[in-house]
Amino acid sequence: MEIQLWREILEPYEMAVDELVIKFRNLMTEYRKRGMYSPIEQVEGRVKRISSLLDKAQKKQIPVENIAGEIEDIAGIRIICQFVEDIDKVVEIIRSRQDMEVRKEKDYIHHAKESGYRSYHMIIYYTVHTLDGPKKLKAEIQIRTLAMNFWATIEHSLQYKYKKNMPEHVRERLLKAAEAIIVLDHEMSTVREEIMDAQNTYSVKSEVIADILNNIQNLYRTANKREVVKIQDEFYHLYQQDDMEQLIRFNKQLDIIAESYRAQSLN
Ligand code: GTP
Ligand code: MG
Repeated sequence: MEIQLWREILEPYEMAVDELVIKFRNLMTEYRKRGMYSPIEQVEGRVKRISSLLDKAQKKQIPVENIAGEIEDIAGIRIICQFVEDIDKVVEIIRSRQDMEVRKEKDYIHHAKESGYRSYHMIIYYTVHTLDGPKKLKAEIQIRTLAMNFWATIEHSLQYKYKKNMPEHVRERLLKAAEAIIVLDHEMSTVREEIMDAQNTYSVKSEVIADILNNIQNLYRTANKREVVKIQDEFYHLYQQDDMEQLIRFNKQLDIIAESYRAQSLN
């Protein structure tokens, strides 16, 4: 098939990947804006390269004209979570979305592959709206923890290095490493609550600080300079004390002052 034809076939998949990545990143943003812990830590996406598509079609004996129908990971999304528990949450979110229809799920978390590979896979239908009308496509979503991703990345590059002939001792080491990853993820889960708390406090704090700085900046334009300098000194003082309650109270007072100058509308 001509390269130009391939480009046309792959175009809607490019759209799908772009949209899906944005949608999952927006979810992260929504969680964080609400001061909540986000079960999603990172989102990546890619469209399979033409050469890899041809390789895969050849390996699976798929005729070229059936590639788009039979190869399910032309559009690929990878969602990385901090904790194993987050994976279930992400799966639930995807199942409940109206713009994604789950076609297939593979649980390589509870049933690791022979290589030691672990990840949760979902094949979904996703519709993109092109100039030629709606196109319903398949996309593969891989959901895994940071640790699982680390393992899969290393293993993938070793697979690539050795092609089909990975030496037995390397394979064994990888299986051992895969077991270590299970232990690590488990250990991380036991401190999950604490880590989540720490991260929440951190993100609430940075929102409050950003708010305060914004208020002070607006006051600079409207209020008496000496007063603003006083406010700023007070802020530095509170900031050094690192007392969240006080910072939040201080920010509320600033809101009131700013309001009285109608400074907030200058945003
Ligand atoms: P392919 O493996 O893609 O040919 O199709 P499949 O129908 O067997 O799907 P499967 O769910 O096994 O794998 C889909 C994708 O998961 C692969 O394309 C890889 O990205 C990833 N994957 C599966 N097995 C492994 C593995 O052993 N190691 C690594 N690093 N990745 C894997
Ligand atoms: Mg496979």
